[in-house]
Amino acid sequence: MSKPLRKVVFPVAGLGTRFLPATKAVAKEMLPVLDKPLIQYAVDEAVDAGADTLIFVTNRYKHAIADYFDKAYELEAKLQEKGKAELLALVQGTLPRHVRAIFVTQPEALGLGHAVLCARPVVGDEPFGVILPDDLIWNDGRGALRQMAELAEAEQAGVIAVEEVPHDQTDKYGIVDASAVDDRSARIRHMVEKPKPAEAPSNLAVVGRYVLPARIFQLLDQTTPGAGGEIQLTDAIEALLKEQGKVLAYRFEGTRFDCGNKAGLVRATMHMAMQDPALAPTVRAFVGNL
Ligand code: G1P
Repeated sequence: MSKPLRKVVFPVAGLGTRFLPATKAVAKEMLPVLDKPLIQYAVDEAVDAGADTLIFVTNRYKHAIADYFDKAYELEAKLQEKGKAELLALVQGTLPRHVRAIFVTQPEALGLGHAVLCARPVVGDEPFGVILPDDLIWNDGRGALRQMAELAEAEQAGVIAVEEVPHDQTDKYGIVDASAVDDRSARIRHMVEKPKPAEAPSNLAVVGRYVLPARIFQLLDQTTPGAGGEIQLTDAIEALLKEQGKVLAYRFEGTRFDCGNKAGLVRATMHMAMQDPALAPTVRAFVGNL
């Protein structure tokens, strides 16, 4: 993990069934929180962490994400012609100039581990980040992935974002058993994907941010289907742990919204609206009336 983080993988091949029927035609990562799609929050966080190569692992039906980051010639020309400089900057700013987007197809939905493995030819032999855009992490300082990349470099170790969840929800997450190093970081002893509450080693859950060494690809290649019959990233990290002895769990600074479900998306939208001075009074009054 001696090199700084340059590449971030976004597994975005999921069907988004929790948001049907909208996701019949709209990729779930394109659902907006106010005026920005979820994928834009994720990309902004990756760029903040120093990434210049973004790898989207998608499926053959999902073109919206590629379209979104592509240059919109006609729209840009119209905005230019009408002198709408602010809107033009927004449209052109989805991807900074120094950053490139690469699209890789996941031919079959075989699990998160398999999706990450699909990015191997592009990532090559260097540490990389993984962001699951469903998990929107908001804060007004350093982004969560930047905090993790800095720790990974300083400690020369893989870093996984974690957060405590209610005990009855362990079967929705990867769960870690870890011994604290300081307030925010801990050494992982053991990791298990979606254990039943009675079998969970703790209530410390993996959320959708990882900084991993390239070695994980070889381990993923050898990983057999696990929880839910899928190739699990958690299982490959457990193998990495056995081999290298050091993978860190990190409690990031920031607030996570699970936008993979309706309640999380509503919470994120309300939260972002309350951060916006132009919207906050309207939202407050509306909620008061409810
Ligand atoms: C994935 C991971 C799981 C992690 C979760 C975070 O699960 O497999 O370990 O806790 O993301 O959002 P998924 O939500 O894709 O089922």
